[in-house]
Order: sequence, then C-alpha cells, then structure tokens
Amino acid sequence: MLIRKAHFKDLPAINEIYNHAILNLTATFDEEIRKFEERQEWFETHHDPRYPLVVAEDNGEVVGWGSISPFRPRAAYRFSGETSIYVRNDKYGHGIGTLLLQELIILAKENKLHALLGIIVDDNQSSIKLHCKFGFQKVGYLKEVGFKFGRWLDIIIMQKML
Ligand SMILES: CC(C)(COP(=O)(O)OP(=O)(O)OC[C@H]1O[C@@H](n2cnc3c(N)ncnc32)[C@H](O)[C@@H]1OP(=O)(O)O)[C@@H](O)C(=O)NCCC(=O)NCCS
Repeated sequence: MLIRKAHFKDLPAINEIYNHAILNLTATFDEEIRKFEERQEWFETHHDPRYPLVVAEDNGEVVGWGSISPFRPRAAYRFSGETSIYVRNDKYGHGIGTLLLQELIILAKENKLHALLGIIVDDNQSSIKLHCKFGFQKVGYLKEVGFKFGRWLDIIIMQKML
C-alpha cells in the first residue's frame, strides 16, 4: 500500500469513492453527486501545502483518499484544519484509513497547523474509532443538524491538538 500526494489523474477515482458515499452513507452530508468539474476546482484548493490531499494506492489503483481542508474560511482559523477520509467500500477495515490519517497528521505537523478537527456523524463507529486511535478527543456534540435518508443526524466534533 502506497500513501502519496494526490495527482490530477487520481481525481476520477477520488470522485467515484466520494460519490458512492454521498449516495449510500450519512458519513457525508452532501446529497447530490459531485461533477468532475467541481472536483477539479476542489483539487486546486489543495495546492496549498497546509491543506494536503493524499491517496492510498494498491496495485496501481486508488483505494482511498484523505484530505485536510480549512476548518472555516475566516482568516483567524488558518491554523485549524478539518480531516476527511474516504476508503473504497470494498476495502473498509483493512487499515487503509489508519494509514491515511497517520500521513495527514504528519503533514499537518510539518505545515504548522495547530488543531485538527473531525466532524463525524454520531453513528459512524469506524470513523470515531479511527480518530480516537490517533488521540482525537470528543469535544462537542451537535444535535439534529443534518437530515438525510429521512432521518435527523447528530454530529460529534473530535479534536486533536498538534
Ligand atoms: C471510516 C473509514 C475512513 C475508516 O477507514 P478503514 O480503512 O475502514 O479503517 P481501518 O481499517 O484503518 O480501522 C480503523 C479503526 O476503526 C475500527 N473499525 C473499522 N471498521 C469498523 C466498524 N465497521 N465498526 C467499528 N470499528 C471499526 C478498526 O477496528 C480500527 O481500529 P483498531 O486498529 O484499533 O482495530 C472507512 O471505513 C470509510 O471510508 N468509511 C466510509 C466513509 C467515512 O465514514 N468516512 C469518514 C467520514 S468522517
């Protein structure tokens, strides 16, 4: 398994993995699948080294991706980042999420981020466990802030100081 910086050519696989999550999971609060053009724009925002985008490659195939995005757009939030990790659905539970988050934390430290946040739907046990493994702590709870697949969704905010 190779964890490396994402390249433009990885975008179709990244988008496919994410679109599967949009259509099938509450892990993302997006509801409309993302067009390739939107992905291109998003890719440009990850040229800033503070906001890395990495992929997991297995036998030449992208099987997962992880990114850090600005937590919020206003300037004073610039040392805080939000994690996103998506593994291809046939590869869950094989340690790929662990490798991706490990790499993101290394890069976040190198790039002098101060705080990392995971914003996670409260029944996503695998993501909560993954973040706990790396020392993220539960610091907040938002009740019924999402509505998807006909039900209200609560959010857990997890944070790691770097
Ligand atoms: C959440 C996700 C990124 C985790 O990646 P993964 O490669 O499946 O996870 P790993 O195999 O690295 O396992 C990480 C930890 O979670 C635990 N775990 C994995 N699947 C689990 C499950 N279904 N239920 C409970 N715990 C689980 C593992 O036991 C492991 O802990 P351990 O090393 O102490 O045993 C991946 O499952 C995924 O992409 N899910 C769909 C999208 C998503 O939820 N993304 C996160 C949005 S916040």
